[in-house]
Amino acid sequence: MANLLDDRFVEREAERPFAPGFGIPPRLLVGRDPLVASLSAGLDIGPTDDRFSTVILGSRGSGKTVLLGRMKEITAASGWVNLDVDATTRGLHDRIVAEIERACDDSEALPGPVPAVTERTSRRGVGPRLAWLASERKQIFEPNWNLRRRLTTLGRLASERSVGVLITLDELHAADIEELRRFAADMQHISQRGQLPIAVIAAGLPDLRLTFFVDRKLSFFVRSSHADLPHITAAQAYRFFRDSISDAGGHVTEEALSIMADSAGPYPMRMQALGNAAWDCAGSPNGTIDAAAATEAVRHADAYIAARLYPQVWHDVGMSERRLMAALAARDGAAALTDVLADVRGTVNNPAAAWERLLVNECVTEDSYGIAEFGPSMSPEAARSGARSLPEANPGTAATAAAARGSADPTRRCNDYMPRAKRRCVLPAGHNGGCRSRR
Ligand SMILES: Nc1ncnc2c1ncn2[C@@H]1O[C@H](COP(=O)(O)OP(=O)(O)OP(=O)(O)O)[C@@H](O)[C@H]1O
Ligand SMILES: [Mg+2]
Repeated sequence: MANLLDDRFVEREAERPFAPGFGIPPRLLVGRDPLVASLSAGLDIGPTDDRFSTVILGSRGSGKTVLLGRMKEITAASGWVNLDVDATTRGLHDRIVAEIERACDDSEALPGPVPAVTERTSRRGVGPRLAWLASERKQIFEPNWNLRRRLTTLGRLASERSVGVLITLDELHAADIEELRRFAADMQHISQRGQLPIAVIAAGLPDLRLTFFVDRKLSFFVRSSHADLPHITAAQAYRFFRDSISDAGGHVTEEALSIMADSAGPYPMRMQALGNAAWDCAGSPNGTIDAAAATEAVRHADAYIAARLYPQVWHDVGMSERRLMAALAARDGAAALTDVLADVRGTVNNPAAAWERLLVNECVTEDSYGIAEFGPSMSPEAARSGARSLPEANPGTAATAAAARGSADPTRRCNDYMPRAKRRCVLPAGHNGGCRSRR
């Protein structure tokens, strides 16, 4: 009985056409064809093309990880070596070295002989055939080599076989600046000498434009091509819902499709959450998604985003940005920017710079009359709720007691951006004195 239920559950889940969450490959990739085509063309042309090193910029939930995944699939199908790393925690170099090892081990596991590469196969070859990598590793790679030497050798070996190496680097904004500078210097060196086929596609939050992209020691990333992830339009969302539902054997009315398309928002993450909620509300695939189910699904999607997206965005930014958003929320989420800036005077260093970071990360918007509102990455309610955790909003709690003792709230990080160090402050929220990038 238990097994039967499990099987039915598995079957139902297999029919489910939507994939809410983070980094889950969607069944239908919406609105990315031009970017995928352009990136693929850049990889095909090789190291002389600007797009051979690209940084993808997009807000939380805009589909960066999924896009990196797609590029990995495309290159892997052409026999490229993929090195997949993220910069969330320290140890970037070790992780790349570990990825090279993993690629070698995986390639060793591949069955069959290595097909010869001929002029007639495409520049990047056809089909995975990395078995060469395992044997070359045994003969050539030395355990004490540094990353630059390993990559250079790997690039040379790949080049001899007319394939490439793709490094996908996710969460670039979270990178430790010293580690990233070292990696950038290695890549700069590699790309200057020998034109080796080692491509980098990195992804991070849009405020990279204001942080790492103005760092002279990161010239590899500054000079690489930068691509914004386009917003999903209502028309694209409409087609996505219609096709996803019908492909999975479900039914949806025109009215429901219009409601869902109009409230899908610009980020795929919300679009997926909305589709998923509508699927469940209507009891799909048997039930039809009608206007009532779609309207209920919009409420579920709002709650999903409030629980999963906004807290993460609040956490990403620093105390200065949080205070600005709290001030805007206190003015009911729409106010003259000059008033919001005046509200934070004395508590925020350089509020104009912090506002700019909020703007590029789509937490806020500003119209031509100087009226500020929340953008798709934050809501007034979420900012109001976040504001309750600010040290100044907590008289009598750990934060205030700590501040009175001359220390700070040990449970939260300040996270304020420090333009000269190009890092975020690691001290506890509400600390005394200046910000610090290291304890
Ligand atoms: N182009 C797309 N079409 C359809 N669904 C998508 C698309 N891109 C992403 N998604 C869906 O949206 C969800 C969020 O995508 P993803 O995790 O790639 O966003 P992200 O930008 O990496 O977010 P974060 O900044 O938080 O890491 C994924 O689980 C996936 O199902
Ligand atoms: Mg991601």
